[in-house]
Amino acid sequence: MNVLILMGSPRLHGNTAELCKYFIEELKEQSTEVKYIELEKNYKSLQGVLCLPERSRRVRLCAEGCLWEGKQVAIIATHGYDGEYATEPFEVGMKRLCIHSNLKYVGMYSVQDNDNLASFQTNEAIEGVKAFARKVISE
Ligand SMILES: Cc1cc2nc3c(=O)[nH]c(=O)nc-3n(C[C@H](O)[C@H](O)[C@H](O)COP(=O)(O)O)c2cc1C
Repeated sequence: MNVLILMGSPRLHGNTAELCKYFIEELKEQSTEVKYIELEKNYKSLQGVLCLPERSRRVRLCAEGCLWEGKQVAIIATHGYDGEYATEPFEVGMKRLCIHSNLKYVGMYSVQDNDNLASFQTNEAIEGVKAFARKVISE
């Protein structure tokens, strides 16, 4: 299996990247091919892609024949506000995108930022994101 991670935080070595580090560690442990893309670094080229009209055949993100139809999607989120209050808006949007694009939504793993980087280095956070990695590749 191949896993593509689109790391959306502008802080390339921040909280989200820290959580992703253990996620990747587990994926590699399970012999999974991982590609890690930092969106911040690729923002200019992505703008070009995301701004193209949906009708454009080459990069269409919806309906039949789209490039990523049938793929699985999972979310790893870090947030300051409490659990669902923080994550729900993003998850709802992603779920809708999955329906729209015929993607399979696997689920979300999230950790709250209570103590900066240390929040993402606890045993609970690390084992949680590793278990999530195993779930992602088992589905
Ligand atoms: C400018 C700014 C805005 C933020 N807005 C939110 C927010 O709307 N909801 C939330 O749950 N956390 C918010 N946070 C907290 C961050 O999401 C949280 O600290 C996260 O772990 C940062 O991840 P990063 O280090 O990968 O960027 C915000 C933090 C900053 C600095």
